[in-house]
Amino acid sequence: MKEHSEAPALEVRGLVKDFHSGGLFSRAAVRALGGVDLSIGRGEIVALVGESGSGKSTLARCIARLERPTAGQILLDGTDVLKRDRFQASRQYRAQVQMVFQDPFGSLNPVHRIEHFLSRSLTLHGKAGTPDQLRTRLDELMTTVGLTPDMLNSYPHELSGGQRQRVAIARALAVEPEVILADEPTSMLDVSVRIGILNLLRGLRDQKGISMLYITHDLASARYLADRIAVMFAGELVEEGESLDLLANPAHPYTRLLVSAVPDPARTGSYDPTERAALRAAVMEPTSCAYDGDPQQRCSTAEPVRHQVGDPAHRHWVRCHLYRPPAAAAGHALATEPLEKVVSA
Ligand SMILES: Nc1ncnc2c1ncn2[C@@H]1O[C@H](COP(=O)(O)OP(=O)(O)OP(=O)(O)O)[C@@H](O)[C@H]1O
Ligand SMILES: [Mg+2]
Repeated sequence: MKEHSEAPALEVRGLVKDFHSGGLFSRAAVRALGGVDLSIGRGEIVALVGESGSGKSTLARCIARLERPTAGQILLDGTDVLKRDRFQASRQYRAQVQMVFQDPFGSLNPVHRIEHFLSRSLTLHGKAGTPDQLRTRLDELMTTVGLTPDMLNSYPHELSGGQRQRVAIARALAVEPEVILADEPTSMLDVSVRIGILNLLRGLRDQKGISMLYITHDLASARYLADRIAVMFAGELVEEGESLDLLANPAHPYTRLLVSAVPDPARTGSYDPTERAALRAAVMEPTSCAYDGDPQQRCSTAEPVRHQVGDPAHRHWVRCHLYRPPAAAAGHALATEPLEKVVSA
């Protein structure tokens, strides 16, 4: 595990995003992000997991500055970027923070050859140099992402999904970013090529020290790739911690539901179907309590505070009124208490 003692590469503080809904003259708004705090260390990979509609893409799009946050701060290397370039991201920012999307086909215009996408990025960011240097740089980019330079002449439809996603990653790399935001980069790909993309992303972190936010529905891939996992529920982060610790000791009912859905031969006995049903009922019922399962519904009146879970070294915390800190040396609270007690305390 890496040490992350320096200032984080990227930090968001109190990020809020409201989308207006209900027509031109309506004041109705959907709160997609309810004040998110998250930091990513240099060379660190943080996975963001959560159900569909929980706000994961909105967070990434706000950080990439494809959406304007309603409130909050985005700090890159300690600089508040929303203050620096208020209305749109500067070219400098785009060179530091790049996004890779879920659908590699949708992000590559079919009428251009691969060479076009990469040389355009290099040229826009002043990294093309002389024609010879450009050629060398293009070849290097292709090799870095595991493609061959002759594929520069191909059109997107001539490549497989996995190869297209590698091109999208090469395009992001062309600007030599500090941070890559990867929004479900493997979910549209064949299962057999997913691992190759994850290994490519990890290699880029290891070799170039790029920090990453990896958005996924898939906890197994989060465990495989990420140093830390942050769990998003209804626009808020409800739990975060080092990947292995969070998955071994999930403290929030919603995290437990996610974890219980991952097949794990090493896990014995826990999460039988009845328990899963109880967890699902606890977190999925549409009531005013965002984290339901608490009959007193305290979440609707008071935000739960953060509790540290276990050893502080694991940087594991949870926000839930139901969390019971473990009795002295008794291990982790939710792992030791019966589930009924947890969801109906
Ligand atoms: N452009 C938009 N206009 C209005 N509402 C939006 C817009 N984009 C997102 N939302 C709403 O914000 C909420 C969060 O959406 P978001 O796409 O961030 O979720 P997600 O976690 O990425 O989901 P998924 O896993 O399905 O990709 C949803 O309620 C969604 O309907
Ligand atoms: Mg999304």
